[in-house]
Amino acid sequence: MDGTAELLFYVNGRKVIEKNVDPETMLLPYLRKKLRLTGTKYGCGAGGCGACTVMISRCNPITKRIRHYPANACLIPICSLYGAAVTTVEGIGSTKTRIHPVQERIAKCHGTQCGFCTPGMVMSIYTLLRNHPEPTLSQLTDALGGNLCRCTGYRPIIDACKTFCKTSGCCQSKEDGVCCLDQGINGLPEFEEGNETNLKLFSEEEFLPLDPTQELIFPPELMTMAEKQPQRTRIFSGDRMTWISPVTLKELLEAKVKYPQAPVVMGNTSVGPDMKFKGIFHPVIISPDRIEELSVVNYTDNGLTLGAALSLAQVKDILANVILKLPEEKAQMYHALLKHLGTLAGSQIRNMASLGGHIVSRHPDSDLNPLLAVGNCTLNLLSKEGKRQIPLNEQFLRKCPSADLKPEEILISVNIPYLRKWEFVSAFRQAQRQQNALAIVNSGMRVFFGGGDGIIKELSIAYGGVGPTTICAKNSCQKLIRRRWNEEMLDAACRLILDEVSLPGSAPGGRVEFRRTLIISFFFKFYLEVSQILKRMDPLHYPSLTDKYESALEELHSRHHWRTLKYQNADPKQLPQDPVGHPIMHLSGIKHATGEAIYCDDMPAVDRELFLTFVTSSRAHAKIVSVDLSEALSLPGVVDILTEEHLHGINSFRLLTEPEKLLSTDEVFCVGELVCAVIADSEVLAKRAAQRVKIVYRDLEPLILTIEEAIQHKSFFEKERKLEYGNIDEAFKMVDQILEGEIHMGGQEHFYMETQSMLVVPKGEDQEIDVYVSTQFPKYIQDIVASTLKLPANKVMCHVKRVGGAFGGKVMKTGIMAAITAFAANKHGRAVRCILERGEDMLITGGRHPYLGKYKAGFMNDGRILALDVEHYSNGGAALDESLLMIEMGLLKMENAYKFPNLRCRAWACRTNLPSNTALRGFGFPQTGLITESCITEVAAKCGLSPEKVRTINMYKQIDQTPYKQEINAKNLIQCWKECMAMSSYALRKAAVEKFNSENCWKKKGLAVVPLKFPVGLGSVAAGQAAALVHIYLDGSVLVTHGGIEMGQGVHTKMIQVASRELRMPLSNIHLRGTSTETVPNANISGGSVVADLNGLAVKDACQTLLKRLEPIISKNPGGTWKDWAQAAFDESISLSATGYFRGYESNMNWETGEGHPFEYFVYGAACSEVEIDCLTGAHKNIRTDIVMDVGCSINPALDIGQIEGAFIQGMGLYTIEELNYSPQGVLYTRGPNQYKIPAICDIPTELHVSLLPPSQNSNTLYSSKGLGESGIFLGCSVFFAIQDAVSAARQERGLFGPLKLNSPLTPEKIRMACEDKFTKMIPRDEPGSYVPWNIPI
Ligand SMILES: Cc1cc2nc3c(=O)[nH]c(=O)nc-3n(C[C@H](O)[C@H](O)[C@H](O)COP(=O)(O)OP(=O)(O)OC[C@H]3O[C@@H](n4cnc5c(N)ncnc54)[C@H](O)[C@@H]3O)c2cc1C
Ligand code: FES
Ligand code: FES
Repeated sequence: MDGTAELLFYVNGRKVIEKNVDPETMLLPYLRKKLRLTGTKYGCGAGGCGACTVMISRCNPITKRIRHYPANACLIPICSLYGAAVTTVEGIGSTKTRIHPVQERIAKCHGTQCGFCTPGMVMSIYTLLRNHPEPTLSQLTDALGGNLCRCTGYRPIIDACKTFCKTSGCCQSKEDGVCCLDQGINGLPEFEEGNETNLKLFSEEEFLPLDPTQELIFPPELMTMAEKQPQRTRIFSGDRMTWISPVTLKELLEAKVKYPQAPVVMGNTSVGPDMKFKGIFHPVIISPDRIEELSVVNYTDNGLTLGAALSLAQVKDILANVILKLPEEKAQMYHALLKHLGTLAGSQIRNMASLGGHIVSRHPDSDLNPLLAVGNCTLNLLSKEGKRQIPLNEQFLRKCPSADLKPEEILISVNIPYLRKWEFVSAFRQAQRQQNALAIVNSGMRVFFGGGDGIIKELSIAYGGVGPTTICAKNSCQKLIRRRWNEEMLDAACRLILDEVSLPGSAPGGRVEFRRTLIISFFFKFYLEVSQILKRMDPLHYPSLTDKYESALEELHSRHHWRTLKYQNADPKQLPQDPVGHPIMHLSGIKHATGEAIYCDDMPAVDRELFLTFVTSSRAHAKIVSVDLSEALSLPGVVDILTEEHLHGINSFRLLTEPEKLLSTDEVFCVGELVCAVIADSEVLAKRAAQRVKIVYRDLEPLILTIEEAIQHKSFFEKERKLEYGNIDEAFKMVDQILEGEIHMGGQEHFYMETQSMLVVPKGEDQEIDVYVSTQFPKYIQDIVASTLKLPANKVMCHVKRVGGAFGGKVMKTGIMAAITAFAANKHGRAVRCILERGEDMLITGGRHPYLGKYKAGFMNDGRILALDVEHYSNGGAALDESLLMIEMGLLKMENAYKFPNLRCRAWACRTNLPSNTALRGFGFPQTGLITESCITEVAAKCGLSPEKVRTINMYKQIDQTPYKQEINAKNLIQCWKECMAMSSYALRKAAVEKFNSENCWKKKGLAVVPLKFPVGLGSVAAGQAAALVHIYLDGSVLVTHGGIEMGQGVHTKMIQVASRELRMPLSNIHLRGTSTETVPNANISGGSVVADLNGLAVKDACQTLLKRLEPIISKNPGGTWKDWAQAAFDESISLSATGYFRGYESNMNWETGEGHPFEYFVYGAACSEVEIDCLTGAHKNIRTDIVMDVGCSINPALDIGQIEGAFIQGMGLYTIEELNYSPQGVLYTRGPNQYKIPAICDIPTELHVSLLPPSQNSNTLYSSKGLGESGIFLGCSVFFAIQDAVSAARQERGLFGPLKLNSPLTPEKIRMACEDKFTKMIPRDEPGSYVPWNIPI
């Protein structure tokens, strides 16, 4: 063994040698901090988001082939990289050299908004292209399955990908044998390109060609090393950990004898997260490197032997090849494994994780182990004692000592036998999201009949996700032997299995009844599948499946994507260089794609910089009895720990009505409340010390978590808010029918890709302090920091270059954390950085308010709603934050597109013991709009009318009045509605859906269309004021500054378009550096869809002032250049700098009278979605969505369509899969992408059509444009109602006609349990109160 190993690998073609490497170092921080390659981003640190994707290349010394694969840098220990070449986004292209076609196309196809996910996306696509220069679209979407984007909705990213495919313009679906290019939408000509409309947002013709010869070559030195390097174990020793990399089997076995407890780390995708998140520490790690015997692939007469070190991606490729060569019956197991490998994690994890690691780690939700267990697989083990074979059976999976590996043993390979004739195997899984999500329940099932008599000879069933280990239904299977494969057997099997695989009501993971149902629903699927094969094999002896059952076996998820869009061309009368109305690429698009765009944590370390981390409360309501800091303070490198005491007199700040505390070391009101702040020399030390802070709590009563509990305790922030119109009590007396109902809507996590980040730098002079922070509201940060430091605001400057997504979540808590960080920086006179980890961020910062809506509607039999009485309850959490404003906005927007002649709506913000909820895109409307739409759907059901009919009947008609008596012209609303109905061929498709539903029992389709009226405005004039500063320099270049924050919505791009139009100069002449309280003071918050609107008017004002000043000079020399004019102005002492100002829209609201004019304009729209659900599993697929929006006159159709699509997908997530889970003690379980599922590429509609109404004049706004940041979220509920429609169809078929109560989000669990059938009836139910549930609905 080599005791003095030096680590050698390459990064972007340059050699890296580390002499004293610490084995605890992961590649991500190494790249970012040590090599200053900050293009690779931190999004979660858990392998779940793909922001840190890099390409790893390795040479196989035997085959001499280079393997390139994508990997998550956050899970790669750098010691594992010996001899590897790492390529980061900086290595493939840059603006300084040449940009890579992938970088160019993702940017020019508008696939970047905030840009934080972009480097990861780029690297996933790039790596695929290195292996497949002309990939299929399926390969591309597969390659992006492990990359999350919270902004774009993925469509433009797919567009960029398609340009690399052979047939790039086509959807490549051809499911019915017809290509999209041949058929148009519904065969209708609506999207024909004319003079005025445009169907494209980019031009492929200008793209750089992909030239594989231009790529970085694999370093020859590494090639030579791979071939010639003497075989010896490398050891890397750090302070706490030793890393041993044996390179021969003999040395591996020796190491295992010496360190039997050391894990054998292969992909580190199991050990790594355990160490990071569960605090499991291994002083020694053994990581075999390129040991040939561990990578064998052997075909024998009995089956396939696969080496333990093969990655899951390699296994997938091998199996895909094997099934081509084998007869189908023999290869069934490989088909089943492939099916699971297609959805298991993302491509990065599949490329890192090894087969051996997967098997040996024995995760309870492992997808492969249940299959391997039923498939009679065996494990080939080796130790110094010799070889041994053990079965991969339940005992092994339960880690029974007699059936397990011995500590000094190594798993060498796995035998996976072929199936015999009359033997069948299948795999099932259901997860919250279809791809890159651990299964809620999965299963492997095998039956062997021995002959064609249909009598069971062998049966094996194993489940994952139903206990602490994979569980086999052994006794049930035993009892079913010799039974005939028929309905009686099915019934008996379900009962036996439910009895054997029992889940207690309090089982970890919750969803107990759903999981019980899945257990038998999967068996039913298996039963159908085998019955179908038997019928095929012996049509005479086996009955056919009823036709209605066949689709139960079909896959729901198509990977082909097709998008169309339509928008109006810019006004042909515009000057040719005027960019307004054109789909200009995001100003930072290329920099996002090259990794050059700088975010807060990308800023280089300041000399002697410190790191701050928070210790947060682990109790939801408690008195802090004591805080012991001694052990934490004694750690070397720990500089200070701040508590409430240090902030005496400055420990609270008031933004709205109620002051909020910074640190709470006395009493805590929620889990995640900031208790103290640890400041240390480095992040690692700060985190280590934070774990050593000992807090003793005494729980306090009451503990209020849910809205219902808050109502019970009358725990509200302030008194109710109310809006009333007409005479509700009288109206109720006149109506034909009255219904009462309620709907509960869960919260939502912002899941901005860049977590909360800040760096505070004391300037060392005059107490000046600079705050670099990822925020939407620099002025607030300035104020809170100034107040905390007792400084005037002119000493505190806040700077924001760009924000990696915010969605409303980077204001209130950001301010509190910035104030504490600034206090630390000021106290120690040193720069302090604070970057939250994903889990901390999710725990501390809160999100969208959960809502409970109770309604009473009075309506006529023809569907007219004459009276509506609604109560809104929002779960505000422990602090006021923006909860009151939120319920007010919720009230003002709740009627959506409908005129309710008599309306009473009251709202309460509940004070609970949860982290304070805050603003999130849509600000109350997604919740209150859903409540109203639910009520309408229920009215329709009561009247026996279609929901769209009742929607149309009650919709605003032309000139009308809102409940707060603001005038509204609904012409464009009606136009959007009608266009959406026509574009989606609603009537035709509704008939098709009904036909499908009548022909299919276990799959149902649903269709729904919802209108949108989204009011835009801030409720006061002052909140809408904006300012800008424009300088012209003597070389003619222009610098624009304004008060808005660039957080992905493209506001800076639009501002440059405005300046370009106003000054009549090319875009390239204008620059924008970022936002700062130093250049534009007192700027309002960036939010509420109006950032470009308001700041654009200020930029326009500044430019017009300048132009007016310069007009005499320009007219003197009309042929001159800007340089000439600037110089002439200077010579004539004319100022070349101007501020611009917009005072805000007229806006008022009187809550006493319930009247006002709070909004400037309304954004109108409509969306129609069609879904298919699997009634047996609760899975759903969004087949198609059509969106029509009225955007006024778009300043930039690419950015506007991007906002609509991105918001729609975020809304779809909100209403379907994004589910926060809390323990009964108020602890948030869902603290990362592995537990909380935002939509991924697999979730987007197979078809998406977006059409903008022709331009309409909107007199007061910037060039008649409309702000679109938030409205699209609500359109996501068209998917909710389409699912509800499908569920209703299933229920009606089963004779269930009563009211259907479905809450949001409509998760697989809710869908499955609502599709009641014989299986849901069969499962045991627990008496409420007889157990403590794992989670509670918030
Ligand atoms: C983001 C993410 C998503 C995931 N999604 C899924 C999913 O959808 N479905 C699913 O089933 N799984 C999923 N997983 C789990 C994943 O499949 C496993 O983590 C992975 O297969 C483990 O392999 P590894 O090589 O990384 O193991 P490592 O972490 O390297 O090792 C794991 C364990 O195996 C032991 N070990 C490894 N090789 C040997 C050997 N040859 N001999 C003896 N012991 C050995 C080690 O000692 C260690 O205890 C996911 C994981 C992550 C991080
Ligand atoms: S940061 Fe690595 S996957 Fe999220
Ligand atoms: S652009 Fe993808 S996360 Fe923002």
